[in-house]
Amino acid sequence: MQAYHLVKFGKTTTAFELKDFTLPPIKDDEVLVAVEAFGMNFADIMARKGLYDDCPPLPAILGYESVGRIKEKGAAVRNVNVGDRVIAFTRFGSYAQFVITSANGVAKIAEDYPTGKALALATQYCTAYYAACVNTNVMPGDKVLIQAAAGGVGTALTQLCKRVPCTIYGTAGSDEKLDYIRKNGVDHPINYRKDDFAKVIQEPLDVVFDSIGGLTYKKGFKLLRQGGKMVSFGAASQTEASNIFSTLKFAANFGIFSPIQFLQKSQSLIAINMLRIADFRPDLMGHCLTSVVKLAEEGIINPHVGGMYPHTELAAVHEMIENRKTIGKIGVNWS
Ligand SMILES: NC(=O)c1ccc[n+]([C@@H]2O[C@H](COP(=O)([O-])OP(=O)(O)OC[C@H]3O[C@@H](n4cnc5c(N)ncnc54)[C@H](OP(=O)(O)O)[C@@H]3O)[C@@H](O)[C@H]2O)c1
Repeated sequence: MQAYHLVKFGKTTTAFELKDFTLPPIKDDEVLVAVEAFGMNFADIMARKGLYDDCPPLPAILGYESVGRIKEKGAAVRNVNVGDRVIAFTRFGSYAQFVITSANGVAKIAEDYPTGKALALATQYCTAYYAACVNTNVMPGDKVLIQAAAGGVGTALTQLCKRVPCTIYGTAGSDEKLDYIRKNGVDHPINYRKDDFAKVIQEPLDVVFDSIGGLTYKKGFKLLRQGGKMVSFGAASQTEASNIFSTLKFAANFGIFSPIQFLQKSQSLIAINMLRIADFRPDLMGHCLTSVVKLAEEGIINPHVGGMYPHTELAAVHEMIENRKTIGKIGVNWS
């Protein structure tokens, strides 16, 4: 069996090597999945650039999700059977032809459900579900801001918030992405390259979903009304910092906040790291996964697939995501 290994931080052209690897025998509560395709996430770009603390030591197999078929299951596994087509979470390790994961981390999917959409349901929709439905509980009539609304998580957040329903402001970096987010349910699309979202938005917000960090985070926080919630789940702008000084500036740009100020305005800061949830609350991860699979089956959410690429184009796919050329979910096929 083979997997793409991250062998060197930095440029896409020298980062990955396709190499043989072995997996240990599965445990009682685990499954072995023969992989059809794996999904791409922005965190993979951070890991490849050496900016992701949780990345295992090199050579490392990146990736958080695969679609495939159960090849073997442990004695205690009840939710899936050998031969089932599944979506599988991995804690790294999904850029591979076979993955092992716990029974909590797999959900059965229909034979005809498109592979790319299934890949989107894992990390991106589960993160959005945890953020908008478990942790924040967006309420009818809320005014919500979603940064990077054309990305995978942004697409999912928009669909999950819209069903409440609420008013959504969303940012994106091109006119093509603006059209896309409008069609996906954003009421007020903002091209942040042309307009400052902090000036365009003229009413106080109930919830801000921020995956950009730095100054964008600080500006979003200032827009919150009394009782408002800041949901921080990423720091994409960290990739723009090229040296220690710009990194320090990026960190300082978040601003300094006191608990007293949160108390006085009844505001909340909700910070999300799904790896920690997977490590310490695997039951919650399982809940998010089964919930989004059900919502997809009922047609309430509908992931957008920006592209499925052959595995030989992995480096080019990384390049596209880093350069913000993608919309929605991007996946990689083994065959
Ligand atoms: N905390 C967690 O557990 C967790 C889980 C999943 C994802 N995340 C985070 O959520 C964010 C979205 O993830 P995703 O997989 O949905 O990503 P994605 O599909 O690649 O979308 C990311 C988008 O962010 C926008 N962006 C704005 N400023 C950026 C910058 N400085 N550098 C790069 N991109 C920038 C780009 O769209 P525009 O062209 O519109 O700018 C880009 O396409 C990432 O920050 C990721 O790390 C966190």
